[in-house]
Amino acid sequence: MLINKLLKIKYPVIQGAMANIATAEFAAAVSNTGGLGVIGAGAMDGEQARAEIRKCKELTDKPFGINVMLVNPYTDEIMKVITEEKVAVVTTGAGNPGKYVAMLKESGAKIIPVVAGVALAIRMERLGVDGLIAEGCEAGGHIGEMTTMTLIPQIRDAVKIPVIAAGGIADSRGFIAALSLGADGVQIGTSLLVSKECPIHESYKKAVIKAKDSSTTVTGRSLNMPVRVMKNRMSRKYLQLEKEIDCKEEMERLTLGSLRRAVFEGDIDDGSVMMGQIAGLCNEERTIAEILEDIIGNGMKVMDCIGEKLGDLQ
Ligand SMILES: Cc1cc2nc3c(=O)[nH]c(=O)nc-3n(C[C@H](O)[C@H](O)[C@H](O)COP(=O)(O)O)c2cc1C
Repeated sequence: MLINKLLKIKYPVIQGAMANIATAEFAAAVSNTGGLGVIGAGAMDGEQARAEIRKCKELTDKPFGINVMLVNPYTDEIMKVITEEKVAVVTTGAGNPGKYVAMLKESGAKIIPVVAGVALAIRMERLGVDGLIAEGCEAGGHIGEMTTMTLIPQIRDAVKIPVIAAGGIADSRGFIAALSLGADGVQIGTSLLVSKECPIHESYKKAVIKAKDSSTTVTGRSLNMPVRVMKNRMSRKYLQLEKEIDCKEEMERLTLGSLRRAVFEGDIDDGSVMMGQIAGLCNEERTIAEILEDIIGNGMKVMDCIGEKLGDLQ
């Protein structure tokens, strides 16, 4: 079953949460277009999350979600707010949401953690979560080690709950590929960065539009905190520091507030310009509606094309 049924939305597409970017307005715009908008609460405290949830409720009568990064020191507070405010879907990143599952379920929320490997996927299913976002390392932001291509079928075979593929999906070819690998829906982030409605600085948006297949790199591997970002002065300096010993403090200094620098100030040289490898395919600014249509609308055309090729085998 595709996840649009489970989540009571039109398209089986979740907007990837993006801390500092996925505001109530942005999430509501996605939900109003038929996907699942998700507020990125990664850099919020409890009361900021409450204000965003309430704003989102004013802007849409469709289901929406909220994403909690479990490394956020305000996680306990945010989870309490979510149960009080009643949010339809909670996605979690950066860890194991085990201790919050019971309270979220009791509040009526569906819980869909982001996972990057089979072991965590199995643990999450045992905890009773409603689905999994399996994210490959092509994605922008914090990533794991496996590619979407290898991760989805292995998680599909390991669990029975719905699996949503993330990482490297930006059009109907990616959507159909994800379904072929066993996914029940997709989550997209990078392609929505270039949407008209996305509230990032114009320079950030232009950087994604200009990006090519090879424009990203991964920082933080040496600290076990890999993050996919655009290659720029900051990432080059960071990667250089990673080769040196005892540079952790300097690395922390370098990245402190770096996503905010890119998102709000448009500093694409020294900011952390997070984007995925699929940025090379995101070449123009479009509305969220056009982007979702491009992902879902050409699905049958892609299937016909596959059918023709398979027909040649007969
Ligand atoms: C700028 C940016 C910020 C992100 N921030 C978060 C976040 O706060 N929480 C999270 O779970 N995922 C985060 N992600 C991952 C996305 O939610 C999504 O899974 C990913 O972008 C999908 O892959 P794609 O970039 O290839 O479309 C972020 C991605 C980007 C590009």
